[in-house]
Amino acid sequence: MAAPLAPVRVLGIESSCDETGLALIEVGADPARLPRLLADALHSQIAMHQDYGGVVPELASRDHIRRLLPLLQRVLTDSGCVRGDIDAVAYTAGPGLAGALLTGSALAAALAWSLGVPAWPVHHLEGHLLSPMLSSDPPPFPFVALLVSGGHTQLMRVDGVGRYALLGETVDDAAGEAFDKSAKVLGLGYPGGPALAQCAESGDPAAHDLPRPLLHSKDLDFSFAGLKTAVATRVQRLGRAPSEAERADLAASTQAAIVEVLVKKSAAALKQTGLNRLVVAGGVGANAHLRDSLNALAQRRGWRVHYPELRLCTDNGAMIALAAGLRLQHGLLDRPQRGVAGPQAVAVRPRWPLDELSPA
Ligand code: KG4
Ligand code: ZN
Repeated sequence: MAAPLAPVRVLGIESSCDETGLALIEVGADPARLPRLLADALHSQIAMHQDYGGVVPELASRDHIRRLLPLLQRVLTDSGCVRGDIDAVAYTAGPGLAGALLTGSALAAALAWSLGVPAWPVHHLEGHLLSPMLSSDPPPFPFVALLVSGGHTQLMRVDGVGRYALLGETVDDAAGEAFDKSAKVLGLGYPGGPALAQCAESGDPAAHDLPRPLLHSKDLDFSFAGLKTAVATRVQRLGRAPSEAERADLAASTQAAIVEVLVKKSAAALKQTGLNRLVVAGGVGANAHLRDSLNALAQRRGWRVHYPELRLCTDNGAMIALAAGLRLQHGLLDRPQRGVAGPQAVAVRPRWPLDELSPA
């Protein structure tokens, strides 16, 4: 009888935007056993970008360069491993900021070349949508995924690893962008999502009837660009800076508008597909009001909703290592052989549609 295949250790590198994340996972050959996270380390650039009210791409790239190697060392130390234990390197190749992506890609190529292991490009959104597989309640396939991040808002039908069909997406701003831009208008700083959510806690969500574009459209698309304009108009009408209470009411009304659209479209996607399982991924998935609303509706309708662990909602290296590990287990990547490194191009795809991953 052949000896069982040894587990593979995959290093994940995330550097697509304003978080530098590295992680090491161990993947067995049997897809019934999910990959195991050995260690992960993260540096958020939020404090650095705060002064500018948003991410400054060139500063982001330079900071990734400073953080990547110390974070790699931390992951190795925490997992009790050495560089030679890495069997493959997975890195975010897109979508994201070109310069930021290149820093992770360059580290992946250099490590892979020096260790004689493959470097695997990973789609950032595939990382997000598979990230609940690292939670204590991993979802079985098939399911509908609501991907809500700073750059994307999409509903996908997920039939398995690498089998993703786009059901609908935003025609303009992403949900996270709507949070961020509205927060900026309200003078709440960056990143706007958590700041606006916090400010909304003491506000009245019914104080302002803000637009919910495409809410009743027959499709599963979203549109959020009008929301920040509506918030700006309300502030302008005041003719002065809003008081604390006015700010809280506007924040609560903005959050209510975004969440209502996300919940109703998710419900429509479940109805259209006939599925009863929803996975929520991406930074906006950390929003407590969104979670409460989805959970309440799920209870009434008999669905299950799965979330990644809170700390894995926003960008991180674990989800990138995980996506590669699951691809390996499902035969979408070749088992790495030490000393047989693939071509190591430093190549990224700042724009990369997720449904290109699915077989035609
Ligand atoms: O997935 P992510 O970390 O990065 C991207 O790939 O974009 O998502 C970041 C987005 C930002 O727009 C941020 O404001 C939003 O997620 N976000 C939140 C919350 N935490 C992060 N939005 C609403 N409520 C939150 N608690
Ligand atoms: Zn992300």
